[in-house]
Amino acid sequence: MCGIIGYLGPRPARDVVVAGLRRMEYRGYDSAGLAVIDHGRILVRKRAGKIANLESALAAEPLPDTEIGIGHTRWATHGVPSDVNAHPHVSGNGRIALIHNGIIENFAALRTELEAQDVVFSSQTDTETAAQYLGLEVARGTDLADAMRAVCRRLEGAFTLVAIDPTQPDRLVAARRNSPLVVGVGEGEFFVASDVSAFIEFTRSAIELGQDQVVDVTRDGVTVTDFQGQPAETHPFEVTWDLSAAEKAGYDWFMRKEIFEQPKAVADTLLGRFTPDGALKLDELHIPEDELRRIDKIIIVACGSAYYAGLVAKYAIEHWTRVACEVEIASEFRYRDPIITRTTLVVTISQSGETADTLMAIRHAREQHAKVIAICNTNGATIPRESDAVIYTYAGPEIGVASTKGFLTQVAACYLLGLYLAQVLGTKFGDEIAAVMHELAATPPLIQKVLDRLEPMRELARRLVDQRSVLFLGRHVGYPVALEGALKLKEIAYLHAEGFPAGELKHGPIALVEEGIPIFVIVPPQGRDQLHDKVVSNIQEVRARGAYTIVLAEEDDTEVDPYADILFRLPRVSTLLQPLLAIVPLQFFACELATLKGYDVDQPRNLAKSVTVE
Ligand code: F6R
Repeated sequence: MCGIIGYLGPRPARDVVVAGLRRMEYRGYDSAGLAVIDHGRILVRKRAGKIANLESALAAEPLPDTEIGIGHTRWATHGVPSDVNAHPHVSGNGRIALIHNGIIENFAALRTELEAQDVVFSSQTDTETAAQYLGLEVARGTDLADAMRAVCRRLEGAFTLVAIDPTQPDRLVAARRNSPLVVGVGEGEFFVASDVSAFIEFTRSAIELGQDQVVDVTRDGVTVTDFQGQPAETHPFEVTWDLSAAEKAGYDWFMRKEIFEQPKAVADTLLGRFTPDGALKLDELHIPEDELRRIDKIIIVACGSAYYAGLVAKYAIEHWTRVACEVEIASEFRYRDPIITRTTLVVTISQSGETADTLMAIRHAREQHAKVIAICNTNGATIPRESDAVIYTYAGPEIGVASTKGFLTQVAACYLLGLYLAQVLGTKFGDEIAAVMHELAATPPLIQKVLDRLEPMRELARRLVDQRSVLFLGRHVGYPVALEGALKLKEIAYLHAEGFPAGELKHGPIALVEEGIPIFVIVPPQGRDQLHDKVVSNIQEVRARGAYTIVLAEEDDTEVDPYADILFRLPRVSTLLQPLLAIVPLQFFACELATLKGYDVDQPRNLAKSVTVE
């Protein structure tokens, strides 16, 4: 939610900050703003709407070249998206400009307290309480970093804060709790940001900040402490991807680029995780095998597309390990007193590694002494840091708000975990595991094959551009694919779309079927899957009631031909691997349809890429 950046160094801070905001715009795009220090004064420009509006404001009223600046792109929580509620917020006494990502839960009480001290607020945001509070502390003569620590000790909730003081143009101070912050260290220059993409253009050397830490950045370097002022441990790391990964590379949308990156993303995720004879090798899973053998229940916890990846994984994990596997939406899991014991394995899935609901679920699970394994795409994010072990997906940065390669690599990583558990538990013979592993390793070229035949989906989008409602049907692993296909349409094409288990159709949803309604059907592999014929019957049922059927079936499956208005051929794979192929045309269709409707595919309305508030 919200992207923040701070810069101290010889480049024009204004330009560095705006470039960083552009790269983080996927995190929120309700408003944007920046502040610089010029001759002892704070100068601010901020505008409701996308960064383009801020850029127009800067063109109309430029800011001077300065060597320090902070900027923010907002996903609104408290206070409507407006110029006044945009960040940075400046304290009434002019001593502090501050940006914030997260939610300050006790802001109302703090505001009352500050108003009693005659502080006058100018916005409706929770953030302004932190700015005003910090302004008062600094005006009392407290050192900027000490003041930041004092403020952080009073705040409840989730926050990353960055502040500058006009009397100290060579210093910025930042803090984090439950919300991300990384420090970029260049040659004589420093960055603080929500995400490394903000400064990857300038440096790949970064420092990951831990929970409840404050970083004091001066021209001499960075000092990190906890909220009490004690020196804190930090984790320096090198960003392994380069700028091109965070750019569109000639594509119209990041989403489209990311769809086409999927063969590589899946291949990279599998790389080095199995031996040539197909045995699983998950060196990063530092949980003793003995402990894994005691596991009697697996709970996968995630949100959105990651949850659907978990639903796919359930079928495979139970089949391979014979351990019961539940899949839960993180925001529901945490608040229903789930049954978790020391022998429960909790697997969380998160592309960003920041999703607040998933993070809270992890904390709850660990309090109950369960082991937690995170499947995550973001190195050093909070979720992997707070888990017992992590399996990284190597999708590279996912910037389009709608998840694509994130989803596919999550499924792949879950499969690695499932096969590894089967190996440890001995529930599958080595040659069976090797056979699946080799088939999984062979999927990237097949995903490429699917990408090479997407043209009919473009045509289909043109045909369906005026549709009001679309349904998706699947069974077994095809069911979560149907859900994910529908989610893509809702998210970026703002279309009513529903995914159903095909077998459930007759129990209600079939009443939605009317003349001409488009229904996508994911057909399980023919001959090798008992559900194939049942799904073919389901296609006939909806077609008999006037549906326009778009059938995804494997090559050589001629049985579906008479019932398909549009037929999309999938390469032959076994049932459990079919989701890795079948979701691709659905992602592409959604991207095409949203493009035709003239929507912003990468920044759909009301959404943000990572949801760091509950
Ligand atoms: C859908 C989408 C969201 C995320 C969900 C979880 O396209 O992007 O539904 O999947 O917000 O996010 P992560 O994986 O970052 O925890």
